[in-house]
Amino acid sequence: MKIAMIAGTALAFSQAASAEEADLEKGAKVFKKCQACHTLEEGASNKIGPNLYGMFSRGVAAKEDFRYSDAMTEKAGEIGSWNEENLAEYLENPRKYVPGTNMAFAGLRKESDRTNLIAYLKQETGAAE
Ligand code: HEC
Repeated sequence: MKIAMIAGTALAFSQAASAEEADLEKGAKVFKKCQACHTLEEGASNKIGPNLYGMFSRGVAAKEDFRYSDAMTEKAGEIGSWNEENLAEYLENPRKYVPGTNMAFAGLRKESDRTNLIAYLKQETGAAE
């Protein structure tokens, strides 16, 4: 039992290095700050912001039925796709990382909030499979 748990944990860590300290339950709580504007489930509607299912594989600003700001579209040309590093930077201070973004969100100042949330997002948007 214990050995199986350790093996499972090691596998999860190798998939996402920074998941080492991630707490998915805490990440779910942090997501409450996002859910007024974003859904996560496959096929769910866009709200004020785009549905985020598949966000780690589809590329930045790539949801076809959502109108992104010019700023986000330009950022897409620069960074291509979301990963743990650039997403953490965006979520820490959206308007600093993407000046002109339509995302009216002040930012997550705590690194642990960002780490937990990103692990949760990966799990919920199909990236962790
Ligand atoms: C007030 C509404 C609002 C809140 C709150 C909000 N967002 Fe957003 N989000 C948006 C909008 C609008 C966009 C599109 C931005 C643009 O085009 O500049 C966006 C874009 C994004 C993108 C880029 C999506 C893509 O397809 O490239 C991600 C990732 C994201 N938000 C994650 C989050 C997370 C995680 C939170 C919570 C910490 C959050 N957002 C909070 C409205 C919001």
